Amino acid sequence: MQVIVFASSKGGVGKTTSALSLASVLTHHGARTTLIDADPNAPLALWSSRFPDGVPHNLTVKTAFRTDVADVIDAASDPYVIVDLEGSRNDEVSVAIGRADLVLIPMKGNQLDADEAVNVIKVVRKQETIFRRKIPFRVFLSQTSPVIMDKGMRDICDQMRENSIPMLQNAIVERSAFKAPFRLGGTIYELTGREANNPEAAIANAETFAQEIRDILIGASMQSEVLHV
Ligand SMILES: Nc1ncnc2c1ncn2[C@@H]1O[C@H](COP(=O)(O)OP(=O)(O)OP(=O)(O)O)[C@@H](O)[C@H]1O
Ligand SMILES: [Mg+2]
Repeated sequence: MQVIVFASSKGGVGKTTSALSLASVLTHHGARTTLIDADPNAPLALWSSRFPDGVPHNLTVKTAFRTDVADVIDAASDPYVIVDLEGSRNDEVSVAIGRADLVLIPMKGNQLDADEAVNVIKVVRKQETIFRRKIPFRVFLSQTSPVIMDKGMRDICDQMRENSIPMLQNAIVERSAFKAPFRLGGTIYELTGREANNPEAAIANAETFAQEIRDILIGASMQSEVLHV
């Protein structure tokens, strides 16, 4: 089982949208996935209860509030478990990070978000000390323009590199297709061109994003096997 945790200390950076997109790709390609909604606002639980017919057959949506998130993670048995956290700093965030095989930290590409990403990385480091294990993490750009990367954003990426903060190569760009499932139910895979602009581009984006994450998880589990020989 691989536990992927979306975390940010700031709200509205794209955790829930990216978490659903990732779950959509994994289940579309046949991987059983549990999606844990650990946000008291329950956006994913609402999505699944409003549109039950649109939930992929191999996706299980669970809710977890406050510190029971560890129990909900431990009770899951699917190959992939994705946790969507509330955008704040609380015990639950630390607990979920403590269980993670990969922590994904979205940022919109401005200085404020970059500073907030560093706060989440501090929590990762603290949990690494407590659990005496490496917790892989990546920062990624969310809601960026599909066409241009402005100078401010390039500077922030340079700043991340200079501080040896690992970033995903793939961003989740801003597209109406990523938002549409919350309004219409289902996933990006069922959208028509009338419901959202260019759903194929969103699918291609989500698939390369998911592929990069799978590669990181495979790399990390191979590394830990080597360490345990
Ligand atoms: N890739 C995207 N393309 C278009 N809109 C997006 C994208 N990602 C997020 N949004 C929009 O930005 C807003 C915030 O996104 P989202 O709810 O995913 O963020 P969050 O980090 O989960 O927020 P919170 O911390 O409040 O839970 C929403 O209105 C969502 O529709
Ligand atoms: Mg959210």
